[in-house]
Amino acid sequence: MSKTFTPPQTEDARRELEALGLSKDQLPGAIPRHIAIIMDGNGRWAKAKGYDRSKGHAAGAEALIPIIKLCCNLGVEALTLYTFSTENWTRPNSEVGFLMELCPEYLRRERQLLIDNNMRFRHVGKREGLPQTVLDEIDTTLEVTKDHTGMTMSLALNYGSRAEIIDAVQSIAQRVTDGDIKPQDIDETTISDALYTGGLPDPDLLIRTAGEMRLSNYLLWQISYAELWVTDAYWPDFSCDHLREALRNFAGRNRRFGAVEPR
Ligand code: IPE
Ligand code: IPE
Ligand code: MG
Repeated sequence: MSKTFTPPQTEDARRELEALGLSKDQLPGAIPRHIAIIMDGNGRWAKAKGYDRSKGHAAGAEALIPIIKLCCNLGVEALTLYTFSTENWTRPNSEVGFLMELCPEYLRRERQLLIDNNMRFRHVGKREGLPQTVLDEIDTTLEVTKDHTGMTMSLALNYGSRAEIIDAVQSIAQRVTDGDIKPQDIDETTISDALYTGGLPDPDLLIRTAGEMRLSNYLLWQISYAELWVTDAYWPDFSCDHLREALRNFAGRNRRFGAVEPR
């Protein structure tokens, strides 16, 4: 990342870390540098309550705020949220329309939260296809948070991992054509840097709500060694306590990265 990450040093931050109840031996490396979340289940949440699906999306947007604050306070460096996939355009027009209005409204409303917490904003996904109203709010949020040094909060919006890989391959191929690099110089860093997430560390923890055991075209390259946590809770019900449970479990994992020795 262009700027050195600075974790928050506030009293809230100290308290939140203490509330996790991790031991001193666990603490180094216990907090994921990067958490990616597939926020799923808004529709089922709404259906279970007899509401329209849009109400589920609105409730999902609200549920996100305490999660962002908690991640920020715990010193998480990057939080990447699956908000709208390239495949979600196949949903009914009314639902897509609702989401494309909710998104800019949310960014406008919550911009101050990012500013107050020294967070940087990032859009991960294709700009083409997004309405201008969404792009304008993305650009304003990018601009007002660009000098911040705290957690990077990325919205994966109009995101698909395969589309991302195609874009990356095309940009690398162009660099080869331009004589900027040789084919044999292409390595993992070349590819990582060419993805929409370029510069972010790979996710250490991938959380999926609403119980589905699949990746739905999310960060396929980046999650090669992420730890997985799937909960049955629908996204609008996902609380800070759910996140703490995932984090405690993560802290107890033995990440071997293909080697024999424990970490
Ligand atoms: C996730 O909730 C939000 C988006 C994909 C935009 P869903 O809308 O997929 O909720 P379910 O899976 O139908 O319950
Ligand atoms: C993944 O959820 C996309 C987001 C959460 C934005 P989906 O609901 O679109 O995934 P599938 O269709 O169950 O695979
Ligand atoms: Mg879903």
